[in-house]
Amino acid sequence: MEKTVEKGKTLLVDGPASVTLTSGSAEVFGLPVKTASKVIIREGKRLPFSVEEKATFDVSLGEGATVEEMDENSIPPSWEKAYEELVNLQARPAISLILGTADSGKTSFATYLTNRLIREQCKVALLDGDLGQSDIGPPCTVAYTLPTKPTTDLFNLTAKNAFFVGITSPSSTVDKVIEGLTLLKEEALKSSPDFLVINTDGWIDEEEAVRYKSRVVESLNPHMVFCIQQGEELAPLMSKLERFKRTFVESPKAVRQRTHERRRNLRELGYIKYLKNAKVQSLPLNWLKVEEDELFGLSKKYENNQRVLRINALLGMKPLNILELPDKLHVIIGRNRWINSENIKKVEEYTKKKMVIIRKGEEEGLLTGLYNANKHFLGIGILKEIDFLRKTLKILTPVSGEVAGVTLGKLKLDKNFKEFPVFPEDNDSFKTFKKLF
Ligand SMILES: Nc1ncnc2c1ncn2[C@@H]1O[C@H](COP(=O)(O)OP(=O)(O)OP(=O)(O)O)[C@@H](O)[C@H]1O
Ligand SMILES: [Mg+2]
Repeated sequence: MEKTVEKGKTLLVDGPASVTLTSGSAEVFGLPVKTASKVIIREGKRLPFSVEEKATFDVSLGEGATVEEMDENSIPPSWEKAYEELVNLQARPAISLILGTADSGKTSFATYLTNRLIREQCKVALLDGDLGQSDIGPPCTVAYTLPTKPTTDLFNLTAKNAFFVGITSPSSTVDKVIEGLTLLKEEALKSSPDFLVINTDGWIDEEEAVRYKSRVVESLNPHMVFCIQQGEELAPLMSKLERFKRTFVESPKAVRQRTHERRRNLRELGYIKYLKNAKVQSLPLNWLKVEEDELFGLSKKYENNQRVLRINALLGMKPLNILELPDKLHVIIGRNRWINSENIKKVEEYTKKKMVIIRKGEEEGLLTGLYNANKHFLGIGILKEIDFLRKTLKILTPVSGEVAGVTLGKLKLDKNFKEFPVFPEDNDSFKTFKKLF
């Protein structure tokens, strides 16, 4: 379909679609579109083509895609002003951080700033702190990159390094996210960029979120905080950030809201991208450092000490593994094994802890992050099996060789890379997980 749009107007395209500029001139988030080259718009995403000189586009729409015209430039004037303020900062590297609710335009604003800076030959580092709607690394990670070319979609960039958090919401794992962001910020600064742009997630409107966001800002200590809002959404957070230089930018009118379903679908595209060409790898446990394993006790040696022998005797069987936590005892047993309730009671009385039975097979589908010996992130994988007898992990991943560490995540993916939670319905972490994403 051909579309002609006058100067000063915007062509809004909702994916899945592709658009080719055939004549005239237009920009997407500060990137001048080349004539005759195809711009792809992913499902769930909207791209605005701001027309600089009367332009003609060739538009191909996929299923459910739409195209419409807007009478003005959909990039608010405050975005341009914010860019000017950023380049006028004295500090180098100049560190800026973007705050805003979900669907306020954070990613698009980060794209806009990056594109404008790169066009001015500035060296840019981009740090993405959004676990659920990550632009740079795989879903459930925070990541950074050093983009050298402008882009219409940050999803096209490749991460330089990432930190695997293993869940889509920061609420249950605030310290981990901050640890990851701080480490990656330091690493990104080692390549001496002129500008570091940090994006964050959209969790804002709860007391807990305000506490979390102010900690993020305090820890990353930016020279400038960009606050994207339509009304007063960020007011509670602003009162905590008075010592920082803050600039308010408008959330574009044309911003597109996404349902939870759409967000999950967009994440799936992320899993697909990072699990392409995955094969099952067998990784020997005694060569691996396993982190965030709160279920299976893989990093602990299953010792035949008196206590374990006593537990085995009370259970009337030898489990595959035991993990003793401060208040719980995890007993991992074979798929078809069974322990009678009398014996469970005896073990609970002996250990004074609640016993939790975990069956082999329950590990299947767990999202994992893989690292090399230097703690460099190699990629993600899906745990297929823990082979307790051969002491190996079987992980479906495109990563091969070099793996020295595996971090277990807190969500599972099925065969089609669809997410499902690890926790049973009555668990608190699950409730938070469900509420947020
Ligand atoms: N100026 C604009 N004109 C038209 N569409 C826009 C504009 N800014 C953003 N959008 C579109 O609106 C949607 C939401 O924007 P964006 O992804 O930037 O928001 P976000 O705050 O990063 O959301 P999330 O919280 O999901 O990460 C996207 O599809 C984006 O392409
Ligand atoms: Mg975003």
